[in-house]
Parts: sequence; C-alpha cells; structure tokens
Amino acid sequence: MPEASIITVPVPLGDRAYDIHVGRGLLGEAGRRIAALGTRAVAIVTDEHVGPLYAEALATSLQEQGLSTVAIAVPPGEATKSYAGLEQVCDAILAAKIERGDLVAALGGGVVGDLAGFAAAVVRRGVRFIQLPTTLLSQVDSSVGGKTGINSRHGKNLVGAFHQPSLVLADTALLDTLPVREMRAGYAEVAKYGLIDDPAFFAWCEANWRGVFAGGPERDEAVAQSCRAKAAVVVRDEREDGDRALLNLGHTFGHALERITRYDSARLVHGEGVAIGLAQAFRFSAFLGLCEAAEAERVEAHLTATGLPTRLSQVPGGCGTVDALLDAMAQDKKVKGGALTFILARGIGQSFVARDVPVERVRVFLQDETSPSRS
Ligand SMILES: NC(=O)c1ccc[n+]([C@@H]2O[C@H](COP(=O)([O-])OP(=O)(O)OC[C@H]3O[C@@H](n4cnc5c(N)ncnc54)[C@H](O)[C@@H]3O)[C@@H](O)[C@H]2O)c1
Repeated sequence: MPEASIITVPVPLGDRAYDIHVGRGLLGEAGRRIAALGTRAVAIVTDEHVGPLYAEALATSLQEQGLSTVAIAVPPGEATKSYAGLEQVCDAILAAKIERGDLVAALGGGVVGDLAGFAAAVVRRGVRFIQLPTTLLSQVDSSVGGKTGINSRHGKNLVGAFHQPSLVLADTALLDTLPVREMRAGYAEVAKYGLIDDPAFFAWCEANWRGVFAGGPERDEAVAQSCRAKAAVVVRDEREDGDRALLNLGHTFGHALERITRYDSARLVHGEGVAIGLAQAFRFSAFLGLCEAAEAERVEAHLTATGLPTRLSQVPGGCGTVDALLDAMAQDKKVKGGALTFILARGIGQSFVARDVPVERVRVFLQDETSPSRS
C-alpha cells in the first residue's frame, strides 16, 4: 500500500520510543515493518474470534520475510485476562522457544493486548512486543501507552506492568468485521479525547462520525488523532502519576456501572459505561455550576446520535440505588482519603482533575439522575 495513505504517530519516550502506524491494509504488509525491528521469530497471540479472521494473513506476511511464527489463541472475553490466561500464554511462548530478542505480537482487542503485553513483560524477564489492535477501542486507547495486565479477584487490571510496545500497527480495515456495538463502544473513547482538551476535534467528530463508522478516510483520521492525543498524555506522564488521570474522564461513573452490572458484557460493555459516564461528568459539572447546561446537552446529543447510551435508565437490568452507585464509586482506585476524585469540565475540551468532591454533592446529583423524571 502507498506510504502516503498511512498516518504515522510517533510516541517519543526516549529509549522506549515507538511509532504507531494507522491505515487500511497494514496487516498484509506487517511482515516488512516487523522484520525491520530485527527478530527471528514472532509469537502471535490472538483470540478465537480474531484468529480465524486475521492470524493467517499476519503469519504469511511474517513468513515472507523469513520469520518463523507460532499462533497462540485464547478464548475471547474479559475472563481471559486472568492468572490462568497468563499461564496459558506464557507457557505457549516458552514452548515455542521465543527468546529475549524475539517478539510477541498481540493481534486482537484490548483483552488480547493487555494479556499478551503482560505476558511479554514477564516471560524471560521481558521480551519485546508489538500491538496489532483489531477493535476501535484498542486502536484508539489500549494499544498505546504500555499499560498491560490481568484482573484479580480483587478487581480489574490490578496485576500488571508498564511495558511499552515496540510498534503499533492499527489496520483500520480490520474494524470492518467488528460488531457495531463494539464499534460504538470504542467511539466513546474517540469522543472523549475531544471532550478532554480538544474542542475542535469534538466538533470534527460531530460532523464526521458517520464516516468513522462507515470506514472512510475519516476513520483513519479519528484513530490517528486519538492516538496523537493519547500519546501526548503518555509522554507527559508515562506512569500515570499526574495528568494522565484526565484520560479517566467519564470513567469514575463508568467503572461504577461496570461494577454494578458485574462486568456482564451482555448488559454493558466498557465503552457504553464510559458513554454514560461522559454524559454524567458533564451533567455533574453543570450541576456544580462549573459548566453551561448547554455544553452537557451537546455532549449527550452527540453520543445519542451515534447510538450510545447516556442515561442510567438505559442500563439493561437497572443500575441499583444511589447508595449502590456511591459504594461502587468508593471502590474505585481513584478514591484517596475518603474523598472522591472526578474528572470534571468547565466546557467541552476543558476538563480538569477535581479532588475532594464532597460525597453529599454526588449523592444529590445521583438522586436527580435516578429520579423517574430523568428516564
Ligand atoms: N491497557 C490499557 O491502557 C487499556 C485501556 C482501555 C481498556 N483496556 C482494556 O481493554 C479491554 C477491552 O478491550 P476491547 O474493547 O477491545 O474488547 P475485547 O478485546 O474483548 O474485544 C471485543 C470483542 O470483539 C472481538 N473482536 C476483536 N476484534 C475484532 C474484529 N476485528 N472483528 C470481529 N471481532 C473482533 C473480540 O474477540 C471480542 O469478542 C478491557 O479488558 C480493558 O480493561 C486497556
């Protein structure tokens, strides 16, 4: 494919720097780019949905460059991000005799990326890995930034490591087979980048979201712009000590909803929780007098136009009582010293970290959100 149709986003992290390439058709020529990293063998970690669709094309492209390959397929779904899943992947990597100089390739959504990345971080005390994200969420979010890990019985993503990939290849054509619900869920994260600090990008999203879903050049642009935004935050705050927290806009509410629905993807997938959370973060900001109500309405209108939920009443099976919601929020890792930390906004593209938000204000807001007049 012509280089001109590929958008490259650098992630300048010193000796951990890497490039993100975005474009249609990257999978078919992945071998050339991966071989340039200097490796002998590649362990392709994928899941049982994605593997049958794309693993062979990747393996062929690698073999054409003289690289040996092994494919490791795990069951799809969040439950695979577990100690058992980690054991399966690490043992398969070792059985394939992948050495320190070789590569692990994560071909799949965020589940595969987080799991394969963590396996790469720990197996033989660390081998290099590359990301070939196949969901919109993983192309715009989880494949960039080096956070890898699995879930524990104590909570999501609690066991993991920072391990930056050596390369990210986001082939946007792979999203053509993604179920529309997963596409929408990833889109919530795209819109989030505009809402955090880029009002022009949010306006672009309002005008161009149909092309993103349809797979036109707008899709590449949306993925690339999201990667630029995420890369900029990661470069400022690689290990999430400071303003990387802004990436959690919508997530305090969203995580609470995921917890309440017991991570049951039949009821709510992460991006749907984030969409409701984004709308709530803006409504809460308006409630606190920080931003105009019209801004919150604009956020809600855009998310609704794309088919995303924005209200608690849209959670299938309900979202429980105000106390249950507060409890679920209090378990969030962003709680420090009993006070709730939120990412709030003074307007679209003007988000900030608000610490010490009084629980009572949250309670009154949630009472309003759960009142029948809001449904
Ligand atoms: N590391 C990070 O910074 C970070 C950030 C955000 C989310 N995450 C993690 O990402 C995970 C969610 O990722 P996700 O939303 O990509 O979900 P996922 O990996 O579970 O993929 C969603 C579903 O789509 C299928 N699929 C993937 N690509 C496909 C394709 N091209 N065609 C058809 N089907 C396809 C998968 O098999 C799966 O069934 C969560 O575990 C979350 O914790 C990590």
